[in-house]
This record gives sequence, structure tokens and C-alpha cells, in this order.
Amino acid sequence: MNIRHFLASVLLCLATMAYADEFIRVSTKSTDIVFRVSGNGRLYQSYMGRHLADEADLKHLPHGTEAYLTHGMEDYFEPAIDVRHADGNASTLLTYVDHKQETAADGSRHTVIRLQDKEYGTQVSLHFSAYADEDVIKTHTEIVNGEKKPVMLEKYASSMLHLTGGKYWLTEFSGNWADEGHMSTAPLNFGKKVLDTKLGTRANMFTPPMFILSVGEQATEDHGQVMLGQLGWTGNFRFTFEVDENDDLRLISGINPYFSSYELGAKETFTTPEFYFTMSYEGLSRASRNLHNWARKYQLKDGQKGRMTLLNNWEATYFDFNEEKLCNLMGDAVKLGVDMFLLDDGWFGNKYPRHGDTQGLGDWQETANKLPGKVTKLVEEAQKKGIKFGIWIEPEMVNPKSELYEKHKDWVIHLPNRDEYYFRNQMVLDLSNPKVQDFVFGVVDRLMTDYPGIAYFKWDCNSPITNIYSHYLKDKQTHLYVDYVHGLYNVLERIKAKYPNLPMMLCSGGSGRIDYKALSYFTEFWASDNTDPLERLFIQYAYSYFYPAKATCAHVTTWNSGTSVKFRTDVTMMGKMGFDIKLSDMSQNDLAYCQEAVKNYRRLSPVILDGDMFRLYSPYNGPHAVTQFVGTNQQSSVVFAFNTYPRWGERNNPVLLKGLKPDTRYRVREINMMPGAKSNLGCNDRVYSGQYLMNVGLSLLSTRKITSHVLEITAE
Ligand code: GLA
Repeated sequence: MNIRHFLASVLLCLATMAYADEFIRVSTKSTDIVFRVSGNGRLYQSYMGRHLADEADLKHLPHGTEAYLTHGMEDYFEPAIDVRHADGNASTLLTYVDHKQETAADGSRHTVIRLQDKEYGTQVSLHFSAYADEDVIKTHTEIVNGEKKPVMLEKYASSMLHLTGGKYWLTEFSGNWADEGHMSTAPLNFGKKVLDTKLGTRANMFTPPMFILSVGEQATEDHGQVMLGQLGWTGNFRFTFEVDENDDLRLISGINPYFSSYELGAKETFTTPEFYFTMSYEGLSRASRNLHNWARKYQLKDGQKGRMTLLNNWEATYFDFNEEKLCNLMGDAVKLGVDMFLLDDGWFGNKYPRHGDTQGLGDWQETANKLPGKVTKLVEEAQKKGIKFGIWIEPEMVNPKSELYEKHKDWVIHLPNRDEYYFRNQMVLDLSNPKVQDFVFGVVDRLMTDYPGIAYFKWDCNSPITNIYSHYLKDKQTHLYVDYVHGLYNVLERIKAKYPNLPMMLCSGGSGRIDYKALSYFTEFWASDNTDPLERLFIQYAYSYFYPAKATCAHVTTWNSGTSVKFRTDVTMMGKMGFDIKLSDMSQNDLAYCQEAVKNYRRLSPVILDGDMFRLYSPYNGPHAVTQFVGTNQQSSVVFAFNTYPRWGERNNPVLLKGLKPDTRYRVREINMMPGAKSNLGCNDRVYSGQYLMNVGLSLLSTRKITSHVLEITAE
């Protein structure tokens, strides 16, 4: 120990002797975060890990690191907050004011710790909501400018957490359009790793705001300490993982401060987005179930309601349709047995009809010669046929070739003095402007007012923010990325308030925009435009770490039509099922198969959509993928097993099931069989104990390429 460290510890001891430390504990069933108000009045995080049963142990905890690290003081690592005060001083020193703990209306335990900079009056409140049974914590921060003049927030993290354990592995997700869900894992060593986006609207095109962090050892499905983290922000985000000189990990989550310095007026409050996380000490499987259970109960819109199966016309027609074609497709929806027909892009625009993606976006009136009977006719036709009607919109966007652009150029995010750059031939409307918010709200409101029979919206968003300049924000350009998202939430809030029972799909050229804040307004998301079932095995698997099947839309299409309809349908049944296919191109057998699968899905939806999910074989690890769902009462279960490209001589072990009751007997039946086909599984129509199924397992895997089996397992 050098002299500096020695003196520091003496001072710390003296301070600690003068004032007894106070501890604040944020707890779930399995996890504790322990904060310490130290003798010097500052707040430290002393612990984060497994629940500590004995309160008396808290005093033995290490001192810890400053909980919400500020810029400009004596800790030299990445700060959570950086405020340029009105006098130009950039330092902030936060001391503890008080804290409050109470049970919130949703049953979670809410803790708020208030801190203040005595010199400048800056107030920082750290909020934590702990969902004990689900082992999920959501956290955010409120920052109040206590000065008489505006200050500039340069950094304003939602959360800063400190992990110890010496060794960390980060799993990140990356991709691109139709290429989502690449997972890669690497150790975190000294220094920083940053995951962030700068795309604004379609913010997650290259990476979604989620990560997996293993602590101590690399977690597997059933072993190891692991954290799943997700930021509720439908815009630019940043996660910073910094390992310091003691091998401790500092994790900062929040809005990406990139081009986002935010001016806060006197006495104004800035509320950060929420960071959601769960910790599991039994590996990834438990962590995912924690998040799924929490989401269905508390976060996902209509998380405890059912979902509609559907037929979408996008891949069946693209832009080439008219009323008659659509009515025929509705007939196909009825034939399939699905709940709804979803009309996609291409139904609007008159001066510039939307016959392709180059024009019409922004002009939300039905194209007269395509849909002479307007949406009224389509809704009526659907009602006559006994199905629901849903419709596609992309209300935040505009094609330069549109009446909207001609009339309201100032509503479009564009640089006043440069050529325009287009992404998919379109531009983004400036949602920081309240008039634009009214317009976007009006798109939904007008449709719902004119056609109250519309039962569903698919809300798309196909461009990142390009040509970044807001004509509304004038000299506050660095507010655009943040205020855009606030504007979007304002619109979504109004829609939810006026149409509380309206289900909506969150789409963004596939999964270019997915997070749990957005999903408080949307019932589901479109996981990818790539519907090749082999690709979808990977993409859906990646999203399954964070999102339940109920939220993850999957459609049967003709992508990779070399694969069987059975294989394609079996993959979609692991999510919120739909079709985007022409029945006229299908054989009788394929159609009969799909009809049967829809019936099976209807029966098994409570298990797949609301049950516990167990990932048994990862497609990332080899040529098989197996996922099991277990109904909440363990009376029924569904297993989806896929063989992709096994080697000819591969030897396969039985698949051990999970989550069943050991002493219950279950009948195993293979379902989703092609008409006339007989199961080649030895286990078909046999009865086994749960113990057998979980310890001896079933031979489900084979070397037959691109084949699948679906098992329904029912307690006798
Ligand atoms: C995006 C969506 C697709 C489809 C098209 C329509 O790409 O992801 O599902 O709706 O837009 O233009």
C-alpha cells in the first residue's frame, strides 16, 4: 500500500467512526443491491449479487464504488453524469439527502434515493422498482437543475451498476436488415467496451438495446451468474462496460450522449429512460423466464391477453393489389382458419399513388382506383367473413414525392443547405414538433374514427434519421434525437389512451426497433423481414433471451421455399403465428397441413404464449434446435425439434426435457403431421413419467436434413 492509499484509508476509517454508515437495500427474491451512505455523506454501491439473508452482514461489505459517478471529481473512470453548470464549471459532487421505500401500485417495491450537489443545487434521484417474484429490477434517474440559469447535461445515464467477480463475458447482438440476431460472446478485460447506436428512428438496425453479461464464469442455460439487461428507449442508446484497475465492472446504461447535449432550464427535470434487468444464479434459462414473466405481467401491452393469428398480404401481392384481390385473400384467411386479415403497404396516395416504395408515403388516403370502396368495403368484407381486419401504416415517414412533403417541408427532418439523402426513398418527420405529433396521432385517429372496425395496426418505420436537422428546434439541434423519442411516446400515449384495446405490431423493416418501453404500447414486434425458416431459427432464438413468444411475430412465407411447408410452419409456431403466403400456390396437402397447424396452435396458445420457455438445443451450437414450452400448471407442454444440416454419421443423444412434474405421467403425441403421414418417433403415443422425460429423455433428433417434429405432451 503506498502512502496515498494509506492516508485515504485512515481518512475513511475516521469518517466511518464519526458517522455510522447507513445501508439501503434494493432486493428481489434472489438479488440484493446494497448502497452505503458513507461517513463522508456520499453514496456508494457496496454490493450486487445473491440475496443476503442476514441484515447484520451488511456492515462487513466492502466500501464499494461511488454509486452514480459524477464528472470532475477524484474517480477517473467513465461518469454516469456530466453537467456543465451555468458558470461553466463541469464538476458535480453528489451527497446523500434521503431515501424512501414503498410498495407501488403494481406491487413492486419502489426505492428512491435523493442526492444533491450542495454547491449548485443539482438534484439527482435514483429510482429502483424491484419485482421480487420475477427477479427483475427497473431503474431510472431524475435530474433537476437547481440553478437559476440553464445548465447543459452532457451525460445523463439511466443507471450505473457495479459488479464484482473479476471475470466477465459479454454477449452482444448484431445484424442488419434481414440479418438480425447474430450473437457473439467475448470476455471483458481492463478498459471499455461500448454498445451503442446512432440511427435515431430505426435505431436497432445494427444492434438492439440488450445484452447478456456472465459474471465469474461463462453462464450456460442452467449454470452460472448472469444478467440480462435491456434499455427502454426507442432511439439512440449506449451501454458502457468498463473494467477498472481492481477488475470491478462499471456498467452504465442510458441514452447515447452522442450529439445529444441537453439544455435543462432552471428548476426543470430530466427523466431518463428505464433500464430493465434480471440476475440469475442458475444460468440463462431462468433469466429469460424471469424477463418473460415480468414482461407479460407488467410491461408488454396486453401481456396477459391472447393474440390473433393472421394472414398478411405483403409477400402475396407486394404493392400489386386491388379490392378484388384483397377480398379473395380474405377468403384465404378464412380457409386457413386464422383470426385476421392484415392489409400491408400500398393502399394509399392519390396524387402520388403508392405503387412502389418511391412515392406516396405521408398521404394516408386510400388510392381511389385501387380501393374504390375505401377501407369501409374491406372492413365490411372481413366482418362478413367472420374475421378481423388490420392495416399497415408508417406514419413517421414521408416520401419526397408526396403531397405531405410538398405542403409541409418544414415538418421533414432535412438540412436546409445540403442535398437530401434518402434511405429507402424516404425521410423522417420531425416528431420533436408538436404539430407533427398531432399529424402522426391523426393518422391512427382518422382511420379509427372513419373505420372503427379496424382491429389492428402494423406500425412500420423503415428509415433511420437522415439529414439530421430540425426546423422546429432551431438553435437546440442537439435535442433532436431525444425530443424525437419523447414526441413518439407522446403520440403512442395518446393512441393508447384513446384506443386502449387496439393491438399493434411494432415493425421497423423487421426488428429495427425493439425495446420494452416501445412494447408498453405495442402488443408484439416483427422479428425480421427474413422469414427463411432456417434463418428464423437463429433470429427467434436470439430474441427469445429477452422477449416471450407472445411478443415475437413469425409468419409462414415462401422465403426458402425449398424447405417444406411443415418445417416453415413449425418454426413460426414458436412465436406469434401468422401467414404471408398465397394459398393458390400451395398444394392441397400443404394447405390441409396448415389448417391443422392453425387448429393446433389455437389449442396450444396458452402453453406457447403464456408458458415457461426452455431452450434445449441452440442452433448456434450445432445442426439442431429444440425449444420446449411448459404450461403454467405443468399439465401440458409442447416441444419443437429441428434438424438443420446434420452430418451423415452424426450420433445424437436423447433430448432431456425440462420443467415437468417428476411424478406426473405424460402422454407424448407427435402433432403437425402432413396429411396421411405416420410418426417415425418411437415415443409417439406413449406415456412416460416426468422424471423419465427429464432424466432419460426422448430420441427426437436425426440426421434427416431440414426436418422437424412437434410434440404435444399432456398430463394423464
Ligand atoms: C417493411 C416491413 C415489411 C413490409 C414492408 C412494406 O420492410 O418490415 O414487413 O411491411 O416494409 O413496405
